[in-house]
Formats: sequence, structure tokens, C-alpha cells
Amino acid sequence: MKVCMMGTGYVGLVTAVCMAEGGHDVLAVDTDVRKIESLRRGGCPIFEPGLESVLQTQLANGRLRFATELTAEDAVDVAFIAVGTPTLPDGSVDLTAVWACVEELARKLPTGAMIAMKSTVPVGTASKIRKGLADRGRDDLRVASVPEFLREGTALEDTRHPHRLVFGVASEEDETLLRRLHAWVDAPVVVTDRNTAELIKYASNAFLATKISFINEIANLCERVGADVTQVAFGMGLDPRIGPSFLRAGLGYGGSCFPKDTKALAHIAEDVDYEFKLLRAVIEVNAEQWKAPIRALEAHFGDLRGLRVVLLGVAFKPGTDDVRESPAIALTTDLERRGCEVVHCDPVVQTLTVEGRLYPVTDRPSEALQGADAAVLVTEWPVFLDMDWEDVARRMRSHFLFDGRNALADVASLEGLGFTVLSVGRAGCKTANRSRTVWSGDRST
Ligand code: UDX
Repeated sequence: MKVCMMGTGYVGLVTAVCMAEGGHDVLAVDTDVRKIESLRRGGCPIFEPGLESVLQTQLANGRLRFATELTAEDAVDVAFIAVGTPTLPDGSVDLTAVWACVEELARKLPTGAMIAMKSTVPVGTASKIRKGLADRGRDDLRVASVPEFLREGTALEDTRHPHRLVFGVASEEDETLLRRLHAWVDAPVVVTDRNTAELIKYASNAFLATKISFINEIANLCERVGADVTQVAFGMGLDPRIGPSFLRAGLGYGGSCFPKDTKALAHIAEDVDYEFKLLRAVIEVNAEQWKAPIRALEAHFGDLRGLRVVLLGVAFKPGTDDVRESPAIALTTDLERRGCEVVHCDPVVQTLTVEGRLYPVTDRPSEALQGADAAVLVTEWPVFLDMDWEDVARRMRSHFLFDGRNALADVASLEGLGFTVLSVGRAGCKTANRSRTVWSGDRST
């Protein structure tokens, strides 16, 4: 089929590349001229494992093309909209880029083509687009909601082997078209109406964010009652009704989706006079969670003025160069305000901009840690977990480590080297990862 992808961000680019891999003829459109020029040469604008090589393969075999605009001659069957939907100051969603795409598609799509929404948009948007198209005399165009669930860092795998496909459609013909388009994907398909599909996306992200804020609250409680949150999570996760995933306590969730989508869903509820209390609490808990290392530093050093603090990790999670809503941003601002010198280290992020100021980021931990007083593990990149700690101990001026992701395996050895190691929700617990499963009695009971 002839597919067009409006937008070449994480979702747009990965989906375009995978659609080409799946045998479709794909045109990816973006208004950013320099980005399109670079993509045409096979240059990948984002750090996403494996993406550049698939991009180059699909460019070479001619299934994938890039352009700054769609033309009527492109004769597209399905046009995806995968542009940004940022949060406005009042928590609502900015749909400017989505509507600009709708305008363009209304002028250029052939009769009977489909617009498939991939961008995360408020419930009711696809139906509004349908109406907007009718107002523009394009009653013939179909509109579907096809939300995206890929994660950064594992985006290719998530797109090739998703846990489910969700098709929000208005007719059986639309469902048939989407099934043909996704014939290369082996996954359960949820076929529903457009509003429900839009809500499935928000509800999924909000639920995952809820799990994270829940375990972070348990972690805060663990610190006060002397328990280990990693083992609490392990013990909880063995119950299949709970499951082990998304129960890692830490500095809170960041990235381009959870912070934005939780706020948007709370706003969507507010718009229909429903106060989503649980979600408000999830957002509030997350807004405080990055402060854990600050409290620990203050308890240890008292006055923080003049301390050299290294942030190990700048990306919001490992496997990506994305810094959106990374705890590193809030930590940088707060530590500087308290008079610290903040040093940034990350294996893939090269610079960090905070409140208009550009910070260099080194990819060499040994350089960053030289003469440091404290280090905070912000992102659990493997390179930070496998460091030569004896060497680190020699380099640091004082030996304070805050493990913001509960990822350092052998705390006892680190303490043996003279480090004071604190983490999230493991107060008084000397060694990490001690959890083991002990069967007692009959499993069937
Ligand atoms: C998320 C959703 O998982 C994906 O389905 C959706 O399409 C986009 O948003 P992503 O933002 O790439 O994907 O990252 P994810 O791996 O889900 O992590 C989000 C944040 O939660 C990260 O900051 C991560 O560090 C944090 N997290 C995750 C925790 O703090 N604890 C956990 O147990 C899991």
C-alpha cells in the first residue's frame, strides 16, 4: 500500500521505517528541511538502537522516501499523523501541528484515502477531524485512531512485535483497510470506536505511571519503616495479578509521554467535570520524587555550597538520548541554586540545556568524577554500573553515592571501599538484590 507518515519524530520515523520493512511504499513528511535532507542521506536524527541501519536498508531498496511536503501525485492510501502534541501551560494539549497536517491532507489526499491518527490526542479528536474534513468538503476521507505504544530504546522491537494493535474505526471497511496495512504484524487486534481507542492510549500510560508513583510512595514509606523497596516490589510482583514490571522505585518517570499524557488525561477529565483524584496524586508524587538525592545530600553534608556533584546519566532512561522531563534537569537547577558545581556525564547525550543555559556532558565517568564530592546515579546506563570503583574511590574527593535507580548491585563492596551509598527506599539495607525465591510447601497451594 502507499503510506504517508506526517512527522518524523520517534513515533513517525520508527513506524515509517517498519512499515517500509513490512512491504509498503512509504513517504515520510516533515517540515524540518535540514532533518529531511539528512534523512535522505540515511542519517538518523535520534539515538535509537538499530534504527539507522534499517533506515538505510529501506532507503536503498526504494521503499522509503522523505519529503518536506506531500503532493497530490503521491496517491496515498493511508496517511498517518504522528506529529507532536505538547502540553500547554493549563495542562491541555496543543493540537496546532495536528490541524496543520489535517489541512494539508484535506488538500492533497486522493478520494477515499484514510487519515490514521498516531499522535496521542484528547478523546474525541478523531471525530472532530472527521467533522473538520466534512466542513472542507472532504466527506470521502476516512478517519481512524491507531494509537502507538512503542517505548524509546526498544522502539523497533515494540513496533515489529507489539503486545496489541488498537484500531479505532467507524466502519468495517476501515477495519479491513487497517488489517491489510498491518498484515506484517503478528499481534492481537482490539477493534473499537475512535473515542475508546484514544482513551486506551491515555489509560495505558496513566496506569503505568500509577504503578511507578505507587512504588515510589512505598519506597518513601520503606525509608521510614526500615524496609527494602526492591524486595517489596519483588515480593509483590510474583503475584500474577500485580506482575513485576513498572515497579522499579527511583527518581520518578520522565520522557516525552508519561508526564505529558498524565497531565493531559487529568485535563480531559476536568473538561467533563470529573476530578480524577488518583491521577492527580500520581502526578504530584512524581513531581516530588526527583528530590530524594537532595534530601540525602543535605542530611550527609549539611550545607551543599561548594560541593562538586556529578550526575551520572542525563537521558530520562537508558537506551535513548532523550532528555525530556529527565530528573537531571530539575536536579541541575536545584543543586546550582544551592551553590553546587554540577557535572554531567552520559554515554550518548552530548549537551544539556537547562533554563536557556547549555551544559557540556562528558561521556567519560573517570573525567567527571575527578575531584567530585558526590555522585548521583540518575540513569541506569550499564557503563555506570560496571565502573572500576576502586579507581572511582581514588578520584573522588569525598565518597558519597546516591543510587537514584536502585541499580548498583553490590552496595556492601562499595561501602568496603569507603563509599557512603544511599538509594531510594532502602534505608538501612546494606546489600541490594538479595531477593531470592524460596518455595515452601506445595506450589499448587
Ligand atoms: C512510555 C510507554 O512505555 C510507551 O508504551 C508509550 O508509547 C510512551 O511512553 P517511554 O517513555 O519510552 O515509553 O519509556 P518507559 O520505558 O515506559 O519509561 C518511562 C519512564 O518511567 C522512565 O523515566 C523510566 O525511568 C520510568 N520508570 C519505568 C520507572 O521509574 N520505574 C519503572 O519501573 C519503569
